Amino acid sequence: MTLLVSGGTVVGATGTHPADVLVDGETIVALYAPGRAPDGDHRVVDATGKYVIPGGIDAHTHMELPFGGTNASDTFDTGTRAAAYGGTTTIVDFAVQRTGEVVQDGLAAWHAKAEGNCHVDYAFHMILGGVDDDALKAMDMLVAEEGISSFKLFMAYPGVFYSDDGQILRAMQRARENGAMIMMHAENGIAIDVLVQQALARGETAPIHHGLTRPEALEAEATHRAIRLAEVARDCPLYIVHLSASQALAQVAAARHAGRNVFAETCPQYLYLTLEDQLGAPGFEGAKWVCSTPLRSRHESHHRDLWQGLRSNDLAVVSTDHCPFCFKDQKELGLGDFSKIPNGIGGVEHRVDLLYQGVVDGRLTLERWVETIATTPARMFGLYPRKGVLAPGSDADIVVYDPAGRTTISVQTHHMNMDHSAYEGYEIAGRVDTVLSRGSVLVADGTYHGRRGHGRYLRRGLSTYLS
Ligand code: URP
Ligand code: ZN
Ligand code: ZN
Repeated sequence: MTLLVSGGTVVGATGTHPADVLVDGETIVALYAPGRAPDGDHRVVDATGKYVIPGGIDAHTHMELPFGGTNASDTFDTGTRAAAYGGTTTIVDFAVQRTGEVVQDGLAAWHAKAEGNCHVDYAFHMILGGVDDDALKAMDMLVAEEGISSFKLFMAYPGVFYSDDGQILRAMQRARENGAMIMMHAENGIAIDVLVQQALARGETAPIHHGLTRPEALEAEATHRAIRLAEVARDCPLYIVHLSASQALAQVAAARHAGRNVFAETCPQYLYLTLEDQLGAPGFEGAKWVCSTPLRSRHESHHRDLWQGLRSNDLAVVSTDHCPFCFKDQKELGLGDFSKIPNGIGGVEHRVDLLYQGVVDGRLTLERWVETIATTPARMFGLYPRKGVLAPGSDADIVVYDPAGRTTISVQTHHMNMDHSAYEGYEIAGRVDTVLSRGSVLVADGTYHGRRGHGRYLRRGLSTYLS
């Protein structure tokens, strides 16, 4: 069965041009000058007046993550369906090894959650919650046999996922040997815990104190320390996750300027939301925006610097860190004590739109939009050129995006399993029109045509983004 996406403007990381995209089965077979595709009994997707882009890749999600005494509220079913609605056709979720647990058992548990439940293709990173000799050996096995080539470590959350500097160094050395990437949650969790206890002792219990006890300096310090540890590990590739602050970005920029294999992502919440406006909302409302790293102050230059970092490639990727919790019964676990609010924001459905708004606002080019939401994540995490590009031989993961459409973000209309929206009322001057995953239509004409179980596990290779 062939399908032709015709009449649109193909946007890729390297350029924009009118083209018709011919799909055979699950794969793109050719791009043609408009109207030049061979005749055939093609199913036609009319993209006239619209952009045609590779399906989005969200390289940072947490479906069903057990965290803060509860579980992230999206399952692989609900979360990947919402992703599809928003033009994301691949997620890379984090399988978890908890402290004391065998890495392979943690991975098996994650496969059990995801298998047969996903609407879009999925891959895994592995969280290492306990770096010991067995975990180090398991890293080699995951890279060689399981298609998992990136490992997340935490400098935050003592007693939960935290690794000390010795454990971090050993994991980095191992990654340097087996070709993997170390992903780092860079916040000084030991110092943060002191500030949290001091704040609670002063009776400062409201959600805004989550942000105030996680100051920028402790993100910058940890980012710097991670970069230096990776240097000691003979330039182990390092990827800083959910970077939120100007000073942390400066650390990444300096390392990149020195030619190091240091990369970073940011997330839409750090580009649009603030400590005062969201986390500081009246009463307990701010709990909706408790996430780590935290939202930063609007009185500082974070938004401006992060958008600039996206332009300069000191920020290479935009992921969501999708980790949704409902307000009722989940965020409410922290009523009277901000340190008990489960950390996380949901946004897997809105990343493509929120970054497109950056194009409309003149902050990013069209090509850079596609690069940061699809092409670089594919290259960074060993999925390219199967994913992240519209080219012959690539999977036919295609999004038709309508620049004349409009999207209003709201809990009333979103598809994530959340009882609120972090972006309630946001207006986007564009709209996801049609979504294909491996040639199958998931979204068209405002209707959902996808199905649970369509999504397949992707074994990833090594990063092809290293210098
Ligand atoms: O607040 C966050 N980011 N929750 C998810 C876990 C993590 O640290 O990525
Ligand atoms: Zn994290
Ligand atoms: Zn995360």
